[in-house]
Formats: sequence, C-alpha cells, structure tokens
Amino acid sequence: MPSSRLVTKPLLVIFLCSFLFLTFIRFQDSGPRNGPTSSSPVPMENIISFWNDFSRLLVATKPHCPKPKRLGSAAALGFDSVKPDTPRPDLLQMPEQDITEMISMHEKFLQGLKKLSSAPIYTPNTRGIVTTAGGPYIPILVVSLRMLRLTGSTLPVEVFLANRTEYEPESCEVIMPALNAKCVILSEILEAVPEPVMIESYQFKIFAMIFSSFQNILFLDADNLAVASPDELFYTEPFLSHGMVTWPDFWASSVSPLFYKITAQPTPLLKASASTESGQVLVSKKSHFKVLLLAAYYNFHGPSHYYSLLSQGAAGEGDKETFIAAATKLDATYYNVKQPVKALGFPLEGSWRGVAMEQYNAAQDYQIYQAKQKSRPSTPLNIPQRLFIHANFPKMDPATVLLKNITRYANGEFHRIWDISQDPVTSIELDLEITLWKQIMWVACEHASAFLSWRGITPMCEPIKDHMRHTFPELGPI
Ligand SMILES: *[C@@H]1O[C@H](CO)[C@@H](O)[C@H](O)[C@H]1NC(C)=O
Ligand SMILES: *[C@@H]1O[C@H](CO)[C@@H](O)[C@H](O)[C@H]1NC(C)=O
Repeated sequence: MPSSRLVTKPLLVIFLCSFLFLTFIRFQDSGPRNGPTSSSPVPMENIISFWNDFSRLLVATKPHCPKPKRLGSAAALGFDSVKPDTPRPDLLQMPEQDITEMISMHEKFLQGLKKLSSAPIYTPNTRGIVTTAGGPYIPILVVSLRMLRLTGSTLPVEVFLANRTEYEPESCEVIMPALNAKCVILSEILEAVPEPVMIESYQFKIFAMIFSSFQNILFLDADNLAVASPDELFYTEPFLSHGMVTWPDFWASSVSPLFYKITAQPTPLLKASASTESGQVLVSKKSHFKVLLLAAYYNFHGPSHYYSLLSQGAAGEGDKETFIAAATKLDATYYNVKQPVKALGFPLEGSWRGVAMEQYNAAQDYQIYQAKQKSRPSTPLNIPQRLFIHANFPKMDPATVLLKNITRYANGEFHRIWDISQDPVTSIELDLEITLWKQIMWVACEHASAFLSWRGITPMCEPIKDHMRHTFPELGPI
C-alpha cells in the first residue's frame, strides 16, 4: 500500500539519522577531544595473560609471617589539628625476623612488577567512571547515576559486580544502559585463569580499577553523588601532569612507621598529607598502572598484613591508604586535593548529625593552590566548588533511608538532611537536596520490582512522597 511506504521512508531516514548521531556521540565519548579516536576492545587473551602472571606474583610474594601485633588503636585525630611536631602513632610490634620477611617479599614483588610486561589491558585514549555495586548497592548506585547524568556528564560508566549471582537483568539490561552504564562481572575475568585466587569484597575496588576497559578512570563509590560534572577533570590540571588525584579524609594519616621501614621509604611528617577518602580516585592507567598493581598488593595482603600497617586500627581501615602508599613508593606523581573534606548534616537536639561528606573540584583546588604557592591571588575563587557528595552515613537506599531516623525529628517534624542553604558554594543551579529526593522517588516508585535486594520489601514510594511533600512544600503536589 502506498500509504505505508510514505510512512516507512521518513521513519527510515529518522532511524538512520539517529544511528549516525549516536555513533557520532559514541566516538566523541571514547576518543580524545582532539585527535584520532580508538575504541577497539581489549582482546580477552591479553587480559587473561596479564592476570595469570599478576595473580601468580601476588601469591608468590605473600609474607609468610604473622600479622604485626597491635598494642592499641590509633586515635581518630583530625587532620586540621595536626601540628608540625605531632608524632605519628606507633602501635605495632613485629619481631625483627618478621620484618625481614616482609621486606624481602615486598622487594620480591617489586622485582616481579618490573619484569611484568603485558600489552595494556585498557582501550587507549578512553575515559570513564568505574564503580562497584551488587545487591543492596544497586538501587543506591542508580540514584547516583541519575544525579551524575543531571550534571551533564557524558562519561560512560562501568559497574563491576562480584559474580553472576549479583547480575540483575532489569538493572543491567534496562535501567543502567539507559544511563550509559554497563555491568561487568569481575569473577568472569578473575576465574578465567588456570589457578584462580579468591578476592574479597573490600578488594573489589582496586581490581575494578585495574580491569576497567578505560585508560583514564574516575573511580566513584556507588553512594558517591556527583553534583557537578566531573568530565573536565580529565582534560585539565592537575590530572594532565600528575596522572593521579586523590581527595582527603577528615583524619590524619595513621600509617605505621613500620610500613615505611618495610617498604624502604622515608617516614613523612604527619602534617604532609591527610588520610585519603577513597570514595573518589582519578587515575591514568597509562602512567600509573604499576601504582595500581602495587596498591593491589597492599590490598591483596591487606587483611593479613598491610591494612594494619597502613591504618593501625583507625576508623575506616581498608583500601584508602593504599593509593598514596603505592604512589610514593614508586615515585609516581599524584595530587592530593587541599580543600578539606566537609561534613554535611543537620542540627539535632542542640547538636548536629553528619550524614555525608562533601568533596571539591580538583582542577579549581589546584589553581587556588598554585596561586597560593606563588602568593598571588590570581583566581577569583578562594574555595573550589563542590563536586561530590559522598552520602554514606547512612546510605541513600530508597528502600531503607526513611527508617534511618534522619528525615524526622523526635516530635515528628520533617526536615532537610543537608544543611547547605547557608553555603555560598554552589556548583549547579539546583536545590541539590530536592534533586536527590526526586531521584530517590524515581527509583522507589518506578523501579520497585527491579532489584533483587528489594524482594519482599514494601515499596517506599508513598512514604518518600510524603517526606517530600512535608519537607519541600514549595514543590506543590507530588
Ligand atoms: C557472589 O558475590 C557475593 C558478594 O561478594 C558473595 O556474597 C557471594 O557469596 C558470591 N557468590 C558466589 C556464588 O560466589
Ligand atoms: C529514632 O529516634 C528516636 C527519637 O529521636 C529514638 O527513640 C529511636 O530509638 C531512634 N531509632 C533508631 C533506629 O535509631
């Protein structure tokens, strides 16, 4: 029939146009801004060959000695209260022969690292965000991905799941692809070698970074909300010349002097840099791949030895210190954001309750720092803009957040959770908290049946709407 042909032709044209447009966008995303594009995937043989060699090296250089004996836990010492002469906590004891064993295995690992030669296991000239999720973290991640896209960020995202059990069809095949995010099953890579080694959940972060297909990665924890586009970070200083950027924690470092002895490095002053808040890490695998591999060594032997050496029992013991520890050992450059992390929260019973951590734009931070170094106020900014809100305490899981006692006072009154109305620093012209709750509502109301971790849980859609009506009356009917 002629009428159907009339309909078909424009449709075909529209289809072709959008195909070409999408292809164009893809190319824009995967390639450098100026220059050739390259997006051929890494051959799986290269990845397996690398992992086969590297996992053997990790196992062969395990320290065969008991973990250091800890005489106490390092106190939570705020970085801002560290004086130039504040002593480094020194709470570990280790017999001389064990120290010798650790030195020798660490050295053996470094020798092996030198010899490890493999084709890159990333796609050259690519950039993207890497995260880990699974189970209850998936709905939290979807909230974060929605926030990320509202900032205008177009970076692709790789979401690492531990194993096939964590693969959720609706999340991985419908919700995430619509947000330009892709599920990757880590165990399928790790188990593709003849003698697979076990990786525990707290070690996923470093292995997700290593096995991501992107050359340049911004690792974000699943509960870390980008509140301005992070895309520019890849194209500006300090990343371009440093290849690795970390953000500070509230706390002073509590790395043991023994760690520096074992790794044959001078012990830095406590004042030199804060402990790392590893909810966000920016790194180039072209320049810093070996740094990630050494960090993986500290994580792989973390529970048995290195976590204790790197934290001495201070809060949040885990992968956080391994990035800088590895970079300093390998004399690799990195930039540690100078603007201190800030707690976000709300007033509570004459006091205050913190719920999240605010981190700042590293590019602006670097400009401000450079200007200060040269003591010229060349920049109109004196505080960098907020870039991430790491909402980890409690996590913004749409299914449980209302149960965490952070949205209403004891008298039943509803309230905001981020007391940032007085804050002069705003990076996007939005009410960030309203924007957050809208994403929580979207996940709870539109996708309540999508997530495996929500089976048997009453959807929180109506209670979330109720919270929004009371807390943000300016929104009108919801
Ligand atoms: C899959 O990973 C999760 C999270 O680490 C773990 O709890 C579970 O035991 C794993 N399942 C299998 C079959 O390995
Ligand atoms: C929530 O807060 C109320 C009063 O503020 C308190 O009685 C209750 O124990 C709290 N519940 C939880 C789970 O913290």
